[in-house]
Amino acid sequence: MTDSIGLDDFYLNERGLASYFECSWLDKFRELGNATPLTSASGSIPEEFIGSTFFTNVANFVFDNAREYLSASQDMLEIGPALGRTCYQTLQRFPSITNVTVVEPSKRLIESFHKLLVDGQLTSFPYVYSLRELRHIDVDSRRIAADCKHVEFTLINKPMQSDTLSRQFDLVYCLNVIDQAATPAEIVNTAMACTKITGVFVLASTYQWSKKHLKNLEEAVSDINGYFDSSWEKIAETDFDYQFRFNERFSQLFCSHVVMYRKIAGNLGKEAP
Ligand SMILES: C[S@@+](CC[C@H](N)C(=O)[O-])C[C@H]1O[C@@H](n2cnc3c(N)ncnc32)[C@H](O)[C@@H]1O
Repeated sequence: MTDSIGLDDFYLNERGLASYFECSWLDKFRELGNATPLTSASGSIPEEFIGSTFFTNVANFVFDNAREYLSASQDMLEIGPALGRTCYQTLQRFPSITNVTVVEPSKRLIESFHKLLVDGQLTSFPYVYSLRELRHIDVDSRRIAADCKHVEFTLINKPMQSDTLSRQFDLVYCLNVIDQAATPAEIVNTAMACTKITGVFVLASTYQWSKKHLKNLEEAVSDINGYFDSSWEKIAETDFDYQFRFNERFSQLFCSHVVMYRKIAGNLGKEAP
């Protein structure tokens, strides 16, 4: 891991980590044979209620719509990957990708990304037991890391800024990040500058703009398509469910707008409308 600036956690606490773990990885550990039940103060909860299909849906969406452009791609960048499930699903669909850079300012999230995808291990993650209590589940991430062993990861524990990276990538993801960040236009412009010509940029937002994150409220856009000028060709767009459990039987369900563009000429992006 490189460039830690030691932010403890500006973004989420242990309860937030529990929500991310459950929605993004529980189904994968079940598939790998982990049958330890998630207990709950309210009795048994159907696991379909706990997980989110967002991560696999995005990877399938990219595979279905852009595989002809990405079949020989090698380099991928993900901005704000959280626990890396979309990254993992994408790597399983595009075996030519052997270099992945992630820029994730949350220390809690990037350390967990490392445990899951890079340094497979016997470890444990928190999950939501009740309104006040978290419990832990033991998991074995060695198979997950083994599935990614052909990949060289560069993990950058910093917010994405215009000078964070000086190279370009075949595939760039920035999913549900911009409305949670202080400088969304800078993030989008940097992601665009980091996309190779003929490369693919996938941008998603739930448009949950708030003063809590945003430095300049005028940067709140209502359609992320507005970021793209004629240097970009639209490949596809869609909306996917994106959900997190907060208490045993209470989730927040967001509608994430996902757009996918191919860069056809050099530019640095345009200002947010
Ligand atoms: C709602 S989560 C989305 C996580 C993941 N991409 C997904 O779709 O589930 C927002 C993510 O953006 C990250 N983030 C916030 N500000 C950022 C910034 N300035 N640069 C890069 N990532 C940032 C957070 O740490 C968190 O991982």
